[in-house]
Amino acid sequence: MHIYLDNAATSFPKPESVYRAVMHAMREIGASPGRGGHRRSLEAGRLLFRARETIAPLFGIQDSSRVIFTHSATESLNMALRGTLKPGDHVITTSMEHNSLLRPLFSLRRQGVELSVVAAGGDGRVDPADVRAALRPNSRMIAVGHVSNVCGAIQDVDLIAAIAREAGALFLLDAAQSAGSEEIDVVKCGIDLLAAPGHKGLFGPQGSGILYAAPGVRLTPLLAGGTGGGSSAEEQPDTMPEGFEAGTHNLPGIAGLMAGAEFVQGVGAAVIGEKERLLARMAAERLAAIPGITLHGPSDPAARGGVLSFTMAGMDPSALAFLLDRDFDIAVRAGLQCAPQAHRTLGTFPHGTLRISPGWFTTSEEIAVFCDAVVTCVT
Ligand code: ALA
Repeated sequence: MHIYLDNAATSFPKPESVYRAVMHAMREIGASPGRGGHRRSLEAGRLLFRARETIAPLFGIQDSSRVIFTHSATESLNMALRGTLKPGDHVITTSMEHNSLLRPLFSLRRQGVELSVVAAGGDGRVDPADVRAALRPNSRMIAVGHVSNVCGAIQDVDLIAAIAREAGALFLLDAAQSAGSEEIDVVKCGIDLLAAPGHKGLFGPQGSGILYAAPGVRLTPLLAGGTGGGSSAEEQPDTMPEGFEAGTHNLPGIAGLMAGAEFVQGVGAAVIGEKERLLARMAAERLAAIPGITLHGPSDPAARGGVLSFTMAGMDPSALAFLLDRDFDIAVRAGLQCAPQAHRTLGTFPHGTLRISPGWFTTSEEIAVFCDAVVTCVT
């Protein structure tokens, strides 16, 4: 029996409707939106529109033209950062961020953007008061990951967004681990920029992502190229959303993402998140009883999403992950999970942790088999 506990890397399996939608886009539509006036291209354009309209309400987005399709959350974050920040601007972020947020920020720092990285506590949670204390007169943005991909710590995004709003700064939320498993309302929370992958909690295929930019947020496109319209202009248009989607769309990916978003809408993000948290909690309770194992992240389960990280004294997490894969066919992720600063914060650098991330299709029996397998490997 194969057990997949790496949904934080990408969700698997996807709902059947997602596989069907990908095939439908490839076999039955087969054309690109805005790249022709023939019926297939028009059908592709309609699909693109419907996909935006399906995704928008999941996040309380009122104008679906503010949803930009990207190829990953990483691309979305790069667009959000590089499209708004200028030398002399100050950005506040946290020590729990993934490289997809930190690396573009470090690169922008070399180009004159000022950066404050607020240290989270040893459990991975950031004190909003520390974010407030980092404000400067030139603070232009606060950029925070909603749920840590390493230990599941949930940040207090409502409070942090309020701090940004009071300071007149943009609030960028990296929803890589929360889109599809936490309720997110961009208007209620005050999110100016929302970056999310399509292939995790939204169940789309890899190579899909979205960026939402609130009305009034002036973005500069990351890429210049064909947009399917206004072809005579030399300059890249900055019209939403086409100006930000240069190049042929990943239509099969977007079709799958739409089906995934419909699935999430049908079940409810809160219900999905609750199940994932419950499974992670079951694992946490069993693992905590094994001598030598340390769990990382918030001890309060309510402050942790469906991601669980642990270490075993005297054992490299990668070695344990290898055994779980080789001997039990269990997929987990070990190491730094592309978030070295988060591991420094948790005290698990440089070897990292062993991380499990159950998904909607994970069963409690699989969690039990995984825990038994860990016992066998470490004793
Ligand atoms: N950010 C993804 C992970 O944590 C890829 O595995």
